[in-house]
Amino acid sequence: MFKIAVLISGSGTNLQSIIDNIKDGYLKNCTIEYVISDKKDVFGLKRAKENNIKTMVFDKNELKEDLSCNILKFLKGKVDLIVLAGFTSILKENIIDEFRNRIINIHPSLIPSFCGKGMYGLKVHEAVIEYGVKISGCTVHFVDHGTDTGSIIIQKVIDVKSTYSAKELQQEVLKTEHKALPEAIKLISEGRIKIDKRKVIVS
Ligand code: GAR
Repeated sequence: MFKIAVLISGSGTNLQSIIDNIKDGYLKNCTIEYVISDKKDVFGLKRAKENNIKTMVFDKNELKEDLSCNILKFLKGKVDLIVLAGFTSILKENIIDEFRNRIINIHPSLIPSFCGKGMYGLKVHEAVIEYGVKISGCTVHFVDHGTDTGSIIIQKVIDVKSTYSAKELQQEVLKTEHKALPEAIKLISEGRIKIDKRKVIVS
C-alpha cells in the first residue's frame, strides 16, 4: 500500500476529494494513514474521523517553532507521501530534507503568480481579482525550501469572470483542486513522475 499523511488547517474539502477518490477506486493501492492538523477543532478532522482515519493535532500556537520537528518525529518512516491540503504552516528544512520529493502542496493560483509568503486561502483570490487577470486556477507542486517554489506537477486553469467575487472565484478554483490533487497523487503513487532539474516529467 502507498501510505499517505494529509496535513490540513481547515475545512478539508481537498482531504475529502482524496478520501472519495480512494473509495471509488481512482486511487488504487493508496491509503490515508494519518490526518494531521495544526489547529484544533477544524472541520477536516471531523471528515477524517467519519472515515475512520487516525487524526493528530500538532497545535501551532502551542508548538510554535517546534511544529515541524514534532511532525517529522511522528511521521518519519511511517508514510510514503505527505500531502499539504490547505495546510497553512510553513514546514522547516529538516522535514523537507527527510521527505525530499515526497511532500506535495496544493495552491489555489497559477504559480508563480499570486503565491509565496502570506498568500493563502481567500487572500489569493482577492489579489487575483484586484489585479484583473483573466485566468486563474490551481497548482500542485513538490515542496522545497522556498514558499511555493518547488517543481510543478499539475496545473488546472479557469476563466476569471468579471462578475466573480473572491468567494465565487475560490469555489470555482476549488473544483479544479479536487481533480488536480488526486491526479498528482495517482501519478506519484504509480511511480510515473521523474524530475529533471526543476521540470516534472510524466511517463
Ligand atoms: C485550498 O484552496 C488550498 O488550495 C488552499 O487552502 C484551501 C484549503 O481548502 N491552500 C493554500 O492557500 C496554501 N497556500 P480545504 O481545507 O477545503 O481543502
